[in-house]
Amino acid sequence: MTAIRPLVAGNWKMNGLGASLAEIASLLDRLAQNGLPPTDIMVCPPATLLTKAKLMLEGGPVTLGAQDCHPLASGAHTGDLSAEMLADAGAKAIIVGHSERRTDHGETDAMVNAKTQAAHRAGLSAIICVGETEQERRNGATLEVVQGQLAGSVPRDARAANTVIAYEPVWAIGSGLTPTQDDVAEVHAVIRAELTRLIGEEGTGVRILYGGSVKPGNARELLQIANVNGALVGGASLKAEDFYTILCAY
Ligand code: 13P
Repeated sequence: MTAIRPLVAGNWKMNGLGASLAEIASLLDRLAQNGLPPTDIMVCPPATLLTKAKLMLEGGPVTLGAQDCHPLASGAHTGDLSAEMLADAGAKAIIVGHSERRTDHGETDAMVNAKTQAAHRAGLSAIICVGETEQERRNGATLEVVQGQLAGSVPRDARAANTVIAYEPVWAIGSGLTPTQDDVAEVHAVIRAELTRLIGEEGTGVRILYGGSVKPGNARELLQIANVNGALVGGASLKAEDFYTILCAY
């Protein structure tokens, strides 16, 4: 199998005002001074900062992502943003189906699938998030839950070039807790197998990120696990120093 180039993406969630763009400037400075790690790098600030961030990132080593989109291209949907609008603002990718959206907004796998198709329609990559709750893990249902989410959320015409999976155990997000390396390896192997079942050969090249309390102190051990092709970083992506240190795990 050809080597998969990793991706480390920072999900700022509902954090960041204009002043936070200084963290992007600081990240770019660190990369310019110390050289580029062998990984793709992405930041996903709130939509309000996309246009300004685009101007800072143009032509550089860091790409821009957004955090959600409406399935339709335009229409009477007050407050929503379409994938086309996010592309227009500079995003190259959109995070879809994050557990916080599944919980806060009742997003189903079918909705995540439609949003993924919207991202693809707009020429963007989709970062599709899956992961079990604490209760589901305790019930021994982790693999079944993740397989079900993939089967429902991944369009069958998804390609390695436009689709990324992020395995984010809900109980690990923002908690400081992480699964054991064996547990991560087990779930990522199942995700890989499920992807090839769903989309065939393309599934062997899809990047599978780990997300949930990735920090400078644990990035190296998490990122070297088999079938872990990068990370989706929340809290630690808000500070350039921490995010840069995570990139240096490569
Ligand atoms: P934390 O890194 O803050 O745990 O968040 C992970 C996450 O949800 C990224 O999408």
